[in-house]
Amino acid sequence: MKFHHLAILFVSLLLAACQQQKPAASAPSAAPDPHSFSRPDLARAQHLDLNLLIDFDTKTLSGYARWTIENPAGASEIIFDTDNLDIQKITMGKDEKPAKFSLGARDSIFGSALRIQLEPCADVLTIYYATRPDAAALGWMEPSMTAGKKLPFLFTQGQAILTRSWIPCQDTPGNRITYNAEIQTPVGMMAVMSAENPQQKSPDGKYQFRMEQPVATYLIALAAGDIAFKSVGPRTGVYAEPPMLEKSAWEFAEMEKMVEAAEALYGSYVWGRYDLIVLPTGFPFGGMENPRLTFATPTVVTGDRSLVSLVAHELAHSWSGNLVTNSNWNDFWLNEGFTVYFERRIMEAVYGKDYTEMLAQLEYWELEEEVMLLGEDSPDTHLKLDLTGRNPDDGVGDIAYQKGGFFLTMLERQTDRAKWDAFLKSWFDEHKFTSQSTESFLSYLKTNYLEKYNLKVNTDEWVYAPGIPANCPRPNSVKLAAAEKAAADIARQLPDTKNWTPHEWVHFVRNLPAATDVATLKKLDAQFGLSSSANAEIRCAWYASAIPKGYAAEIMPGMESFLTEVGRRRFLMPVYTELKKAGLSDDARRIFQKAAPGYHAVSRNSVEALLK
Ligand code: BES
Ligand code: ZN
Repeated sequence: MKFHHLAILFVSLLLAACQQQKPAASAPSAAPDPHSFSRPDLARAQHLDLNLLIDFDTKTLSGYARWTIENPAGASEIIFDTDNLDIQKITMGKDEKPAKFSLGARDSIFGSALRIQLEPCADVLTIYYATRPDAAALGWMEPSMTAGKKLPFLFTQGQAILTRSWIPCQDTPGNRITYNAEIQTPVGMMAVMSAENPQQKSPDGKYQFRMEQPVATYLIALAAGDIAFKSVGPRTGVYAEPPMLEKSAWEFAEMEKMVEAAEALYGSYVWGRYDLIVLPTGFPFGGMENPRLTFATPTVVTGDRSLVSLVAHELAHSWSGNLVTNSNWNDFWLNEGFTVYFERRIMEAVYGKDYTEMLAQLEYWELEEEVMLLGEDSPDTHLKLDLTGRNPDDGVGDIAYQKGGFFLTMLERQTDRAKWDAFLKSWFDEHKFTSQSTESFLSYLKTNYLEKYNLKVNTDEWVYAPGIPANCPRPNSVKLAAAEKAAADIARQLPDTKNWTPHEWVHFVRNLPAATDVATLKKLDAQFGLSSSANAEIRCAWYASAIPKGYAAEIMPGMESFLTEVGRRRFLMPVYTELKKAGLSDDARRIFQKAAPGYHAVSRNSVEALLK
């Protein structure tokens, strides 16, 4: 008994002695994240010093992650997320005393919990580890899969829960961290991160990085390869492999204008520089909003700036997502819905109303189709999701993006832009560098917008009920209506396509009547080169439309090279899906087998599941 009291006293004294620790820069939310083992509300990792060597021969990263931790309540352990990491040893304190730890059983979605025993005053932990060649976050590209064909290339993809496969971390968007990194690449390469970046190669392949603003772990990112830089504006520039650099800089020459338009809407850009890197074709997404450095697919470099809305989107995340972050992946629409809305406002400011209306119209139709696919009553069509026990990737789709985006457009239209914009700007400003939930947004909305302007709006229906609410704004694009009519008329005449943007092409192709015969498709192809279009959006839509109409065999070689060269999931899935539906699963599997080594795990897993 006595001993027990003494022990408690002793621990309290120790704790008191540790109290010079400064308090949490941003208190993590108390509700545990269903997609993370970590509990930053109990003991929190707050700063990372990362030191890694990139080895392209073994496809591994090795080194250490040194975490500065905060343990105000004296928890006896701290929990990290890991997946497929080889943990070599863990030390505590600056004098690196060995620490006791255990690695839990591996869950195929969430990985393994790493539990490290803490002594009361422990303030740093150093985790020595290596990644495995099949780490889900890492895209290892052979030289043949790059633009330059000479050096290999590596990129990471953290969102949603992949960072844990290359860094042991508290992998929840409810926690924010700062980081420094030292990365060793082979000589002759450049490394860049979601941080302050070099603009030139270093002679020894060593690079240092600093990210001083607190970010969520899914936003830690790294790319390395034969990378060069070209400035396009005072605080904007483009990174790409040398053969892509000039084209890319031309494609994205209007980035600075976009940053200015965004700032005029919702407040200053706080991250310093805004650069973009064009990755090899194996990148599984269109774009990823890594802070200070958007990662982008090369399929947006079309030579006509027709897909630059992707830049508006990733840039908008500098506010919605990176500055104010969804508290966990059930609130994903807070990141993406806000961003789609903001993206359209940037596009409207820079490229005008008509063009933006056309993009919104296409996306509205995509939303309708998605709701049909999921089912009008499906809980997966709610904005607020419950993805407990599921892969947060299941929540990535047009609901979060488009239903979320139109929700904000609907709210805007209840008053006027001056009032709405002031509201949204204050939302960002008052919540910067924090993570927020759907509920905290709804309560802020109620007090600062709905009640303020005496509005009655069905917000609960939008957020907690399925389908598309009746008061959803419906875009109306004259240009797309014309393309649609041309598609309906196809049996009578080939379309007049003068001045068509790729978006009109996509819509035209998608709306070709099911009865369109192969002879007509061939004529279209001969006249307009659709099967070999340089624009991946057109090519994907064309293949998806042509396959069910019986025009697959002849265009199979082009399709095969498309599916082999392009790694973006958005383009792969529709084509593989149509091949399967048309009874061409054997072709699909043959192509997939050949192409799979070039796909990132994100795309590989999705296609594999489809063809199973
Ligand atoms: N943050 C997303 C990408 C993402 C979402 C990656 C969820 C992993 C999990 C990014 O901002 C995005 O939305 N990219 C889109 C393009 C955009 C223009 C709609 C994409 O990659 O298709
Ligand atoms: Zn996004």
